[in-house]
Amino acid sequence: MSILSAGKGDSRYAIHITNKEISKTTLNNFLSKENKVLIITDNGVPKKYLKNLKKNINVKNLHSLTLNKGEKSKSFKSYQNIINKLTELKFDRSDCLIALGGGVVGDITGFAASTYLRGISYIQIPTTLLSQVDSSVGGKTAINLSQGKNLLGAFYNPKLVLISTLFLKTLSEVEYKSGLGEVLKYSLIGNKKLKRMIEDSSQKIIKRDGAILKIIIEESIKTKSKIVTKDEKEAGIRAILNFGHTFGHAIEAYNNYKKITHGAAITLGMVIASKVSFYEGHLKDYQLDNIINMIDSLGLNTDHSKYNYSKLKKYMASDKKVKDGKLNLVLIDKKFNAFKTSKYDIKNVIKSLD
Ligand SMILES: NC(=O)c1ccc[n+]([C@@H]2O[C@H](COP(=O)([O-])OP(=O)(O)OC[C@H]3O[C@@H](n4cnc5c(N)ncnc54)[C@H](O)[C@@H]3O)[C@@H](O)[C@H]2O)c1
Ligand SMILES: [Zn+2]
Repeated sequence: MSILSAGKGDSRYAIHITNKEISKTTLNNFLSKENKVLIITDNGVPKKYLKNLKKNINVKNLHSLTLNKGEKSKSFKSYQNIINKLTELKFDRSDCLIALGGGVVGDITGFAASTYLRGISYIQIPTTLLSQVDSSVGGKTAINLSQGKNLLGAFYNPKLVLISTLFLKTLSEVEYKSGLGEVLKYSLIGNKKLKRMIEDSSQKIIKRDGAILKIIIEESIKTKSKIVTKDEKEAGIRAILNFGHTFGHAIEAYNNYKKITHGAAITLGMVIASKVSFYEGHLKDYQLDNIINMIDSLGLNTDHSKYNYSKLKKYMASDKKVKDGKLNLVLIDKKFNAFKTSKYDIKNVIKSLD
């Protein structure tokens, strides 16, 4: 088992990563027998995980709430259901929520924890690759409003994150690949060890080999936690985590957030951003080829020909990253380090897309 950490001062938290069962002792050491615990999960998470978790927690007052699977559950209505349950059960500040599921469950549980009684503790047990390498670390919590995604939220760190690669055995291919998109991102924005591992062990990664998964999750989190700990409220360097996301979000919006997963969309976004980096003179041609080959070797799609500039333009213009009419882009340089720029040449953006 490996232990990493993220966050500063009082809001620092440990992240345990294992390719075995999550540690009962770690979990129970954190909880007190007198505490009430509410586990939030969704009905797409295999039932045995909830059953197992319940069996392993030693508290007198243990409850669970199962949401419907899918982004629709990151809603005001589900949030209200959680809050109703907490008031009904008379949870107080010493009690605790546990998120058992993907990013949807993690985001809404974190948001409920951040607001109920002005903040109670929560533990993240992420069960998708995307939530293990991304959403469970960094303290961003949110629900969606009819006006847009993630519009209501808070920065609120969990007290503990428990990750086991065993959960990934039951994950669908599409969701697994979505998570791989974010893993790939960390390898292109500065994590050289991770980049080498993907280049050397793509077959093992595709086969979900537990030992390799543990390392790639660890490396992904090291990169994310280093960045989010430096910049908790997204004032500066945290922006490089958006590599591929300006185009990726446009692709997701163009598809109405259906038909394409977040990871698949940002993977195409990273191909496009790498091409812009090349046209801007920051990457050599063989380095661009290297990136495309890496993505191919993981079985992810690199063909973005469906999305030309005229299709994506309107969605890019409404992206959060536009300031004073200029599109902020994260590009990468010859050393595979990411940097933020607003001095892009629009012609090169168009060239990269068409
Ligand atoms: N807070 C952040 O920093 C952050 C970062 C990235 C994404 N997000 C959010 O995360 C959400 C996406 O998360 P996601 O990709 O994990 O999607 P998700 O939570 O919808 O999970 C995908 C599907 O997999 C199922 N599932 C979960 N674990 C499983 C398992 N072990 N085996 C089989 N099926 C399983 C779920 O029931 C669901 O149907 C979005 O709402 C996004 O906004 C948040
Ligand atoms: Zn992302």
